[in-house]
Amino acid sequence: MPSTTTTQRKAPTLDELIERHKGKPGALLGLLENAQELEKFRYLSEPTLRRIAEGMALPLSQVYSVATFYSFFNLEPQGLHSLVVCRGTACHTRGSLELLETALARLGIEGFREDESNSVTTPDGFASIRTVACFGQCALAPVVQVDGTIHSRMTVGKLVAAIEKLRKVPAPEAPKSK
Ligand code: FES
Repeated sequence: MPSTTTTQRKAPTLDELIERHKGKPGALLGLLENAQELEKFRYLSEPTLRRIAEGMALPLSQVYSVATFYSFFNLEPQGLHSLVVCRGTACHTRGSLELLETALARLGIEGFREDESNSVTTPDGFASIRTVACFGQCALAPVVQVDGTIHSRMTVGKLVAAIEKLRKVPAPEAPKSK
């Protein structure tokens, strides 16, 4: 009989995650985070949100309000790679609009309007670009996150190089920081 011991731990199912968080005060945020990580395209689908509401015995409206309040939750499927451009005041005054426009142009995305949405994914699913109001690192503006890694004092040149690098490497398994 083959051994069940492996070096890779099996990912929990959504129902197992719900069981882990059930009845714990303030558990919804962590559960939503874990549920999003489970999903290949890093988003919370409607069936997932419904299952969480049912499993946690919470109103669906409450689950939705938490999922829509925090910018790190996605309600749409995300690309394999992610770029998050800070559009807060400090970053804006140090050129974040040019960075955003560069990222959009380099990834061939047209028609994105910041006043209508804070995220967009390339049609081929290669990458998603998202804007945030502040990373809390204003002294290091402008700030852009690429596949989970924060890059401070970003320049157009460094951003172009980072995007080109994404084309050569597979999407990350998990976010990291440096
Ligand atoms: S405004 Fe960009 S990090 Fe604060």
